Amino acid sequence: MKHSTVTLGEYIIDNQKHYKSTSGEFSRLISSIKLAAKIVNHKVNKAGLSNILGAAGDINIQGEAQQKLDVYANDIFMQTLVNREIVCGIASEEEDDFVTIKGKHQTNENKYVVLIDPLDGSSNIDVNVSVGTIFSVYRRITPIGTPVDKMDFLQRGSQQVCAGYVVYGTSTMLVYTSGHGVNGFTLNPAIGSFYLSHPDMKFPETGNIYSINEGNYVHFPQGVKDYLKYCQEEVDERPYTSRYIGSLVSDFHRNMIKGGIYMYPTSTKSPKGKLRILYECNPMAFLAEQAGGKASDGYMRIMDIKPTELHQRVPFFCGSIRMVEKAETFMAQYPEGANYNDEEVE
Ligand code: AHG
Ligand code: MN
Ligand code: MN
Repeated sequence: MKHSTVTLGEYIIDNQKHYKSTSGEFSRLISSIKLAAKIVNHKVNKAGLSNILGAAGDINIQGEAQQKLDVYANDIFMQTLVNREIVCGIASEEEDDFVTIKGKHQTNENKYVVLIDPLDGSSNIDVNVSVGTIFSVYRRITPIGTPVDKMDFLQRGSQQVCAGYVVYGTSTMLVYTSGHGVNGFTLNPAIGSFYLSHPDMKFPETGNIYSINEGNYVHFPQGVKDYLKYCQEEVDERPYTSRYIGSLVSDFHRNMIKGGIYMYPTSTKSPKGKLRILYECNPMAFLAEQAGGKASDGYMRIMDIKPTELHQRVPFFCGSIRMVEKAETFMAQYPEGANYNDEEVE
């Protein structure tokens, strides 16, 4: 492939024409995410050399042990966005509640809120396996100049103006969409710049990879068990191959390039699924659809779900369109599974 000479910074400026408001606010926001990503990348790359591996000793609001790098990445993204007063509010997987950004003069004229999973796949850090960052951007609903409210964060995924991820992999990439396709930028570490390396990324319509934590098999709903049996049948192009890293970002990135489906369904262990709709599923769903793929909870479009809680979890089926559609046909055999969110239903 020909080397791209277009940097992320240049690309953002060139594409500002897509936005009605040309205040530059959105460009500054992406630039801040880019900067925070470079700082976290630097830390992740030399994690084994500094005292940054392992657990931080705290449990986050969702009952998960925080890793030192979870806390570090959260601090970097929060500080970068807060200090530059680019957004009016931030919600993070690692924070109990959303954060209001007041601004120097106790007012804040910014219109965007950011939701973030600062470090995704953090259980992989200690073993030198790829991790990521996921981000999602919405326009606030409450009036500009007033404090942000929970409703600014609890919007349907279909309202996102931008979403993306950084994958700290064998090379570090920033992949994002602002509703005009998906573009991937690779960091040249010698120069410290991201270059457009993967323009207009698309999920193949179908593929031969399925990604799921099969260790939970006995706890899965029957629809998922049936679909897995289908994936493993010796018919036509099947059996598919199984690939599961345990970092959503990395599993998604591979499946988008090669064709595949990622699933984190409900289980008797996690009756509402594990992944968080605001920080993980909605941004990945926006990217998936912009890349010609599909994202569903097994029954309905992820981006049509109205979130009611900041840290809400949902089952997640995402990837090549034909594969997700096929999985949905198996789930449809058990329509009661769509009620996973009703407290009454076990
Ligand atoms: P996080 O590190 O932000 O908590 O997310 C981990 C998520 C996701 O990245 C991954 O696909 C999944 O959890 C793995 O879960 P299991 O270990 O249960 O398979
Ligand atoms: Mn995550
Ligand atoms: Mn995380």
